[in-house]
Amino acid sequence: MAKSKTYVCSACGASHNKWSGRCEGCGEWNTISEEVPLSSGPATKSLGAIRGTRIPLTDLSTTETPPERTRSGSGELNRVLGGGLVPASAILVCGDPGIGKSTLLLQAAASFSRAGLKTVYISGEEASAQVRMRAQRLGLAEAPVQLAAETNLRDILTTLEAEKPALAIIDSIQTMWADNVSSAPGSVSQVRAAAHELTTFAKKNNMAVILVGHVTKDGQIAGPRVVEHMVDTVMYFEGERGHQFRVLRAVKNRFGPADEIGVFEMTGKGLAEVKNPSALFMGTRDNPVPGSVVFAGIEGTRPVLCELQALVAPSPNAQPRRSVVGADAQRLAMILAVLESRCGIPFAGLDVYLNVAGGMKVNEPAADLAVAAALLSAREDAALPADTVVFGEISLSGALRPVGQLDNRIKEAEKLGFEKALSPKGGKSVGTTTLQRQEFSDLRSFVTEIFGDNGPQKEG
Ligand code: TYD
Ligand code: MG
Repeated sequence: MAKSKTYVCSACGASHNKWSGRCEGCGEWNTISEEVPLSSGPATKSLGAIRGTRIPLTDLSTTETPPERTRSGSGELNRVLGGGLVPASAILVCGDPGIGKSTLLLQAAASFSRAGLKTVYISGEEASAQVRMRAQRLGLAEAPVQLAAETNLRDILTTLEAEKPALAIIDSIQTMWADNVSSAPGSVSQVRAAAHELTTFAKKNNMAVILVGHVTKDGQIAGPRVVEHMVDTVMYFEGERGHQFRVLRAVKNRFGPADEIGVFEMTGKGLAEVKNPSALFMGTRDNPVPGSVVFAGIEGTRPVLCELQALVAPSPNAQPRRSVVGADAQRLAMILAVLESRCGIPFAGLDVYLNVAGGMKVNEPAADLAVAAALLSAREDAALPADTVVFGEISLSGALRPVGQLDNRIKEAEKLGFEKALSPKGGKSVGTTTLQRQEFSDLRSFVTEIFGDNGPQKEG
């Protein structure tokens, strides 16, 4: 019998029985490649045929105290971890190549080792001398971190078993090589096997493990999604090229809130914490500019104010441009449609550009009203007053929906010297505030009141 081949997507790990250009699982192109199956022998008897050992079952009540977390010297990192590092947890840190993952984790290794954890840093990408040089440059040469440059997983596990560290950092999971799997390092089988070995080893030996994962668009190496379900915490390290700011975002966390962010700045001496991101993402706002609106957003549990910028210009093309950086293009299309059909403000024949200043990414629906305000402000060439923040969700009917964490948004805006908030009606009551609030029940009334006098020409 011919051995059946399997084809696995390197982005999502879905397996297919024939090759195709596009993965049906995740829709990515050119990510499917041939894989040697893990067990390539004749099928053994089914599991039910041979008796295993009986597992003791327990109830849900517990007398155990929650595990003692170790806090690093970096408040931003502790915040994203949900208050510190949990013993025996497995963490995946993903990001584009060159974004600063190795820098972040070398600093974290130094910080945790200084906090009293025995820390081992395994580099599969750089030679020990290179890592030592970087540590020197970052002023971390004195930190009690144990370092090795190795990719052989068997040797790494043997070493970890003997050394018994409390934390091991593996940079990166895609360079690790398990010799019992016959495909190349970086392939789905290898990455999956290496992550499985490391996480089960970590749980069994009460060692925390941090895995670094590269994200690549071309599918040359397996994506971190293959590993995401095996670990307790998944963090994305993001940033725009050309901006020095980096955001560490927890997208999954079994030990803390997801969506929490930590903000860092890449400097000549490594990553520095940014304690007040609002001030940073807003830029300087002395004179109000048409098209620029401050959105009072929430990232996880923390309020972040950021500046949305829109530009609306007559289009030379039959198909006008819709260009978005840092926000959701689908959401922009929806807001344009609502403005057009519910408020009678057409954007046909106009190019629309939307940008979130400072390299920040905004995913909240609460940004809808701020986006609409920026678009209208740009279209009408009328600036909102500089002391105003905007937030609110727009529904397809044109109604405005209240948003969560009202208090947090208002307090942050007040703290940064804003005097007025434009927001939807309703929502939980706010404590004492000097901020003046103007509330709207639908987008149409927002448009007439804010952009009324010199406002848009209504149709009909
Ligand atoms: P690195 O941590 O090697 O990225 P990754 O591991 O995600 O591939 O960081 C690479 C970039 O960071 C590199 O382009 C230079 C920059 N960098 C600084 O600006 N300052 C520093 O102190 C360090 C160590 C790196
Ligand atoms: Mg690196």
